Amino acid sequence: MSGVWDMFRVTVFGSDNSASRTGAKAFDPTRDIPSLKGKTILITGAAGDLGRQTTIDLIRYGKPEAVYIADLPRSEDEKQAVLDEIRHEAYGDRQFQSVDTAEGDETHVRYLDLDLGSFESIRNCTRQFLDDNARLDVLICNAGIIRMTPGRTADGYEVHFGINYLGHALLVRLLVPLLLETAEREPEAEADVRVVIVSSEGHVFASEGGVEFDVVKTDGASMSYSARYGRSKVALIGLMKNLSLQYPQIKTVAIHPGRILTGMARSLQKESLLAWLTKPIAPFFCVPVATGIRNHLWAATSPDVVSGTYYEPVGVPGTLSAVAKDEAFHKRLREWTDEALKGVDVPLTDRA
Ligand SMILES: NC(=O)c1ccc[n+]([C@@H]2O[C@H](COP(=O)([O-])OP(=O)(O)OC[C@H]3O[C@@H](n4cnc5c(N)ncnc54)[C@H](OP(=O)(O)O)[C@@H]3O)[C@@H](O)[C@H]2O)c1
Repeated sequence: MSGVWDMFRVTVFGSDNSASRTGAKAFDPTRDIPSLKGKTILITGAAGDLGRQTTIDLIRYGKPEAVYIADLPRSEDEKQAVLDEIRHEAYGDRQFQSVDTAEGDETHVRYLDLDLGSFESIRNCTRQFLDDNARLDVLICNAGIIRMTPGRTADGYEVHFGINYLGHALLVRLLVPLLLETAEREPEAEADVRVVIVSSEGHVFASEGGVEFDVVKTDGASMSYSARYGRSKVALIGLMKNLSLQYPQIKTVAIHPGRILTGMARSLQKESLLAWLTKPIAPFFCVPVATGIRNHLWAATSPDVVSGTYYEPVGVPGTLSAVAKDEAFHKRLREWTDEALKGVDVPLTDRA
């Protein structure tokens, strides 16, 4: 019941810029994104709505050295269209010789193929990134799915758990050595290396125990889709808690972006009669994408971020379900994940 109340509360009070709740100044990307000069960012799911707009605003206002957008493999034309849109939105009508080569002070933008439902794809994507790069300042684990239809990933895991949680858990493990190296290179006072994990208010729909580890390698057909989505999102909060304890050199936070009508809502509307029937009133419960990315932007750049915290929009420490706060759950999750990823999470040492 408190889960439903929390969703209502966040919908009514939290989805927008929540300065009125905190008494703080509202977060304004045009003013509050600091210079990201020299920084490299990798963001998953950046062909999707929140990831793409986050990329655009980080480039537009922070001007980082490079942004790698990692998303499902698409045709070359489709990838080009995503890159074109990002550059057009970030730079207006300015002409470029080549779409993924930075010119002058422009940000280098590159598309990396990544299927978070396949360990092999995650390793290939990471290898490509490491071959191209000597630093990683901000990793944004943004990609995610919500599906009614049960299914499994290439490695046999229930799709929400496999893609939203386990795929990101592997990606982070493979990139931690570079994140640590990047942090070590900076003078201690200036080091600012981050992992932003996009969870959801929907984490409250996980079962009381959080994750039923004995059935995550099934298609989960006996569970509701919201429970499967919730399970993956509570596991992401556990991942954030574990990383923040294990690596104090890295600021790791989890966020709920708010309610936004994006590709996720559109895919749900195709599968769910309820979502389809409520389509006309959905906009009244949602904020536009430009507002829905503020928590992403805040978490990726604000000096006020505190590692180990789950934030509702914008930058407000959020309410976690009992299991999301439970240290015994975090420990079980870490131990189970160590076992599940044994052999595939070995660092990629063939970096040039
Ligand atoms: N929108 C909301 O109201 C809301 C609320 C709470 C949390 N969130 C979270 O916000 C994040 C961004 O979602 P969004 O709203 O921007 O949805 P979106 O527009 O659907 O974006 C999600 C992106 O993830 C990609 N993706 C799907 N499966 C993948 C896989 N196996 N490997 C790599 N990438 C994959 C999608 O690619 P395809 O388009 O090709 O499938 C898409 O580009 C998600 O983690 C979501 O759970 C959103």
